[in-house]
Amino acid sequence: MGTLLIHNLAEVATPHGNSSRIGPKQGQLERLSGAEVVCRDGRIVFVGPPAEREKKLGALADAAHLDGRGGTLVPGFVDPHTHLPWAGTRENEFSMRLQGKSYQEIAAAGGGILSTVRSTRAAAEDALAAATVRRMNHLLAWGTTTAEAKSGYGLSLEDELKQLRAIRRAAAQHAVEILPTLLAAHEVPPEYRKKRHDYVELVCNEIVPRAAQEKLARFCDVFCESGVFSTAESRQVLEAGKAHGLLPRLHADEFADSGGAELAAELEAMSADHLMAVSPSGIEALALAGVTAVLLPGTCFFLMKTNYAPARKLIAAGVPVALGTDCNPGSSHTESMPMVIVLAVLQMKLTIEEALVAATLNAACCLGLGEELGSIEVGKRADVVLLDAPNVLHLVYHYGINPVAAVVKGGEVVHRVPGF
Ligand code: NIG
Ligand code: FE
Repeated sequence: MGTLLIHNLAEVATPHGNSSRIGPKQGQLERLSGAEVVCRDGRIVFVGPPAEREKKLGALADAAHLDGRGGTLVPGFVDPHTHLPWAGTRENEFSMRLQGKSYQEIAAAGGGILSTVRSTRAAAEDALAAATVRRMNHLLAWGTTTAEAKSGYGLSLEDELKQLRAIRRAAAQHAVEILPTLLAAHEVPPEYRKKRHDYVELVCNEIVPRAAQEKLARFCDVFCESGVFSTAESRQVLEAGKAHGLLPRLHADEFADSGGAELAAELEAMSADHLMAVSPSGIEALALAGVTAVLLPGTCFFLMKTNYAPARKLIAAGVPVALGTDCNPGSSHTESMPMVIVLAVLQMKLTIEEALVAATLNAACCLGLGEELGSIEVGKRADVVLLDAPNVLHLVYHYGINPVAAVVKGGEVVHRVPGF
């Protein structure tokens, strides 16, 4: 690995530090004009004006160059919540939703998560890996350099492991870095409908231990929601995960306030995700425990709802806020973090600065990677995105286009649009 000089930038926009930005600091973003960035052996070694770079590092005659062409450099986006490895599509259900059926009505009629479970169970591991790679191509093209990815459409020992192996296989052949999560408790599978307790036992006693033993997952997640898994069942699964070294995170208070945020706080989870229906005491609990709220406005948008998660209240209460796509075939079919940033700003009323911090440093922190990723600072990994935009405000101001001109992962240019 050599040296890469990124020059001719109008702006470098980045948060600072290794830990989550909270409250008033959520929006602290440095905007440097005319700076250059030098990457060496996968890390950032310099950020500053050209004259200072000349003095410190010389002309860098042998370095590879990335000409910023007057664009803006931001940290690579970190997507902390995706459901990447699935098979099949659900556009027919989507049409039904457009005609007025609700997501829950479709699920109750055997569609929803269970329809993707049927197609994912029928798919071979290599087909799942190929589908995951195609989604990772979209992630990369939209500037995501690191993403979390969940199982949860297998709902049996072998099918959950198959999904996790597909993630591992896809990640091994792709520039986007993936952190895998076991979400065996995404739904109760049809064959356990009359004995749901047995399914929870299967998850705790067989699926969690095997996923941990084969090092197929770093996190354990549960869909804690009324009508899906209760807080007691969720606690049982997440405790089992913890006992096997899988860090907890959970789908909390997505459609109804089910005490998911309080449970996340009790378990000191890495994150509580969704939170469209979080209660004031849930917000309080998250703030006290320092649990990150991963907000997924794409889900609210795609389900055509208007009750976006209370982002302003969460920030005001001192909860670190991160953003993710929730990329999945039912409730949020997108790989685009720039789209999520647009929704966070225009619908949840984050400032552009807060949204960018949420999509980079705070997202990295809730994956346990705050010391490595999430900002453009000396010592961090060289994961950066060049935007074809004169400053960072254009990330939202110029919406509906893909602003990404080039992506650098570990100091290498891994994606570049023609002309850059
Ligand atoms: O995060 N809430 C549960 N799981 C997904 C939806 C999955 C699906 O519809 O396939 C979510 O929204
Ligand atoms: Fe989700």
